[in-house]
Amino acid sequence: MSDTLEQTTWIEAGAEADFPEGLGICIQHDDLQIAVFNFNTDEWYAVQNQSPYNKQMVLSRGLTGTLNGEPKVACPLHKHTFSLRSGEFLGEGELPSLSTYPVKREAGRVYLLV
Ligand code: FES
Repeated sequence: MSDTLEQTTWIEAGAEADFPEGLGICIQHDDLQIAVFNFNTDEWYAVQNQSPYNKQMVLSRGLTGTLNGEPKVACPLHKHTFSLRSGEFLGEGELPSLSTYPVKREAGRVYLLV
């Protein structure tokens, strides 16, 4: 076996009440910035905070919405749009997908698998 297998672990992102519905909040874990979205009561998402277009740390300030039922975030700089579920770029042309992180909520706390 090689030792290139990446370890993942649940980290605590904060209290549910710290994440207003419809908005993104950036949390820092080591040198990783993650944008956490309380999309609605039942759907929470977490993606990399870094724009894949110009590398700015801005996606937590993006506008959320849906495209054909797909939850999405639009980068606040040039409105490039990504699926919050898969991280896939939803616009014309090509951009790398966003890294996504599973979210779970337990006893009023929010956890991310990183
Ligand atoms: S400028 Fe951020 S994705 Fe377009």
